[in-house]
Amino acid sequence: MTTSKPSATQPGDAFVWVWLPGATDPVVAGLLEARGSIVTFTYGRSYLDRPDAISLYEPELPLRAGRIEPRAGLSIASCIRDAGPDAWGQRVILARRTGTSTADADTADLDPLTYLLESGSDRIGALDFQSSPTEYLPRTETAPLAALQQAATALQEGRLLPEPVATAFLRGTSVGGARPKVLLTEDGRHWIAKLSSTGDPYPVVKAEAVDMELARRVGLHVPATQVIRSLDRDVLLVERFDRPAAGGQRRLLVSALTILGLDEMMARYATYPDLADAVRSMFTNPDATLRELFSRIVFNVCIGNTDDHARNHAAFWDGRQLELTPAYDLCPQPRSGEEAAQAMAIGREGQRASQLQVCLDSAAVYHLDRAEAGAIIDHQLTVITEQWEKAADAAQLTEVERRQLWGRQILNPFIHYGYPSQAVLEQVGRNARARGELAREFGLLSGADVAALAESDPPRASAVTSSWTAEGKVFTTGAAGDPRFPGFQFGDDGRPLPVIAEVLTALGGRLSGWELALWFTGGNGWLGGSRPVDVLDSDPELVVQAAGHLAADLLG
Ligand SMILES: Nc1ncnc2c1ncn2[C@@H]1O[C@H](COP(=O)(O)OP(=O)(O)OP(=O)(O)O)[C@@H](O)[C@H]1O
Ligand SMILES: [Mg+2]
Repeated sequence: MTTSKPSATQPGDAFVWVWLPGATDPVVAGLLEARGSIVTFTYGRSYLDRPDAISLYEPELPLRAGRIEPRAGLSIASCIRDAGPDAWGQRVILARRTGTSTADADTADLDPLTYLLESGSDRIGALDFQSSPTEYLPRTETAPLAALQQAATALQEGRLLPEPVATAFLRGTSVGGARPKVLLTEDGRHWIAKLSSTGDPYPVVKAEAVDMELARRVGLHVPATQVIRSLDRDVLLVERFDRPAAGGQRRLLVSALTILGLDEMMARYATYPDLADAVRSMFTNPDATLRELFSRIVFNVCIGNTDDHARNHAAFWDGRQLELTPAYDLCPQPRSGEEAAQAMAIGREGQRASQLQVCLDSAAVYHLDRAEAGAIIDHQLTVITEQWEKAADAAQLTEVERRQLWGRQILNPFIHYGYPSQAVLEQVGRNARARGELAREFGLLSGADVAALAESDPPRASAVTSSWTAEGKVFTTGAAGDPRFPGFQFGDDGRPLPVIAEVLTALGGRLSGWELALWFTGGNGWLGGSRPVDVLDSDPELVVQAAGHLAADLLG
């Protein structure tokens, strides 16, 4: 074989095909050759002659004739390895090859090109691998989600399913990662379906769903997600960002591991500061990207995602520059005690403790001053605490699941140590929890809700509710622009219970709206431990008396 003209493959060789930016069909780019312990790459002459040719990733595979060896310490160019199956996919392929499940099998038994050639063509990014340089034959067999799910369960139980599901299942292995997943396309939209696993120690799928929802709410860039039920199990659908518009285009991307010039064996040396340096030198919009990167680190700390390794970050490659992809694989990880560390160091000196203080102290690495970094942290803490319940609703978390995550993985007390406003933040957290409980039990109604209950004419809704508030008939919690009415204040006719006005008069404006809500819903010694809210109907006079006692205490 010549150094720059791909010809027919030898066993163990593979041709690389690429979707150039904007193209809907692939062209052959070059040849991978497995030689001993390394795999080399050679651009094809026809590719080098193209006016629109781009390097597959300049730092590793610059656009030039001749065989290119992987960088020192690597066995294959990382940008190629990124396109291949990872732990999960390799396990499936090996099982298929050996005809058995893989409990004892070693995924290192197969050479890397076999993995590239057996996995499906709808792989992450814009590369594919073929045994011919002239004829592109996509491997795209597919099957319904339920069948693929059954195949995944069977594999984990040590069984293999028969054809044609087995082949369809095999094709989904081109997506990386360690957890079971399959690829889906519906109405022109492309999704990664992340499956529940038989051995999940906690509801991993929903936990990831709630994190993606929180990430969206704090303002990070994340793909669309949804939780669906299939075969009585939760499945998380994550929309693919490497398939831009409909019409068959694909986007090249590389993992942060590749950007850092590392492979799996060296992954523990990957750090965020090194990634930040790469952002400065190779990315579009470095300042905005550094801010986003810092925000993702803070978010990972907040939600207990300590699995933020360098293949859980990636960037699009357009032949010249890198651009950070949306965030993915944001999933709280189980932790035994409070202490936890991020997979990649946050600070220049290798600081990796999952703590906001560590983020704050490292602000300069990400081109932020302390005030900017503090604002990002405080914004995330506020949004996560205030919107936790809504995010949990969107991810369909049960009450038990909420309790499993909140305060353990999500906003674990450990993250606050040393951070300036710890006490305030903990109070914010407690308030948010109490607010969530109140909202669930009684409803926190908007003005429009209240007017609808009272069957008031909609245009007069705000006039009605604000006059009730002004006249001291009801109280509100929440922000000035978005007042919320705790639902227990209203009778069956939707009008304020008279006892509320009497309590408000007795307290004489000494408590804020939120304090009032907590008083009504907390156990009360003057009521034999009952909550005022529970005796509003049966003994309103007693409630007013209890309020009088409180007012006297407050005056006293
Ligand atoms: N929305 C997406 N669009 C395109 N590619 C994605 C998307 N989400 C994930 N990927 C790619 O798929 C790979 C596997 O996805 P993901 O990291 O979510 O799986 P995982 O099994 O949970 O990973 P891990 O092994 O880190 O636990 C990622 O490394 C990334 O290359
Ligand atoms: Mg991952």
